[in-house]
Amino acid sequence: MAANWKMYKTPDETREYLREFLPLVAGHDRDEIVVCPPYTDVATAIEAARGSNVAVGVQNVHWKADGAYTGEISAPMLLCLGVTHVIIGHSERRQYFGETDDTVNLRLKTALESGLTPICCVGEVLQEREAGLTDDVLRRQCVRAFHAVSAKKAAKLIVAYEPVWAIGTGKTATPELAAEAHAVIRREAVEIFGDEFAAKLRILYGGSVKPDNAKALMSQEEIDGALVGGASLDPKSFAAIVKY
Ligand code: 13P
Repeated sequence: MAANWKMYKTPDETREYLREFLPLVAGHDRDEIVVCPPYTDVATAIEAARGSNVAVGVQNVHWKADGAYTGEISAPMLLCLGVTHVIIGHSERRQYFGETDDTVNLRLKTALESGLTPICCVGEVLQEREAGLTDDVLRRQCVRAFHAVSAKKAAKLIVAYEPVWAIGTGKTATPELAAEAHAVIRREAVEIFGDEFAAKLRILYGGSVKPDNAKALMSQEEIDGALVGGASLDPKSFAAIVKY
């Protein structure tokens, strides 16, 4: 169960959030729980969450270890802070910051090689869904993201299906529709990585997940967890989703 805070919260707000959130999920061991704040909150979050069942992730990573890349953050920099997870290829990065299937692949390979757990996002935009292209888009995004990644290397991989039309819009995919898309992704994972890997692959759903729809979504066999934006910003609301 992953929280994507996007560009919200200061370090003080992060400390306050975790002070409230950690007791609410203490002892919850059904799911892995991860909070992905902005980079500027990472050190505070790690300090506040130390010794708890909540891991700290980030929302992007560069593919090089270091170099003249103004404004970028590398995997070694994150690992030395204690970051364990990284969201890769979020649709907002694809839409606003020039992220492509190829840069998703570079980031993903780096994350896996460095020992970070990548949460690799795929999902169609509304026009693609309306044109009946959803399955093609998901297959293409998976093929390109996982290019030259072996099943052995990909062991930690998590995929998030986030239909772009459902992000921040209050329009959730129905559980059935989300499950269908997850099945397409899993079938593609069979092609790329084999049956055994695909059966174990965790696929999260993201897009307007709220406390009142989490149970219906999570009760789908194909849906292994959630990547939550807006509703993860409030500790009570994210805890309610985690414990649906
Ligand atoms: P919302 O939950 O705000 O729709 O955002 C989903 C998302 O983009 C998570 O990465």
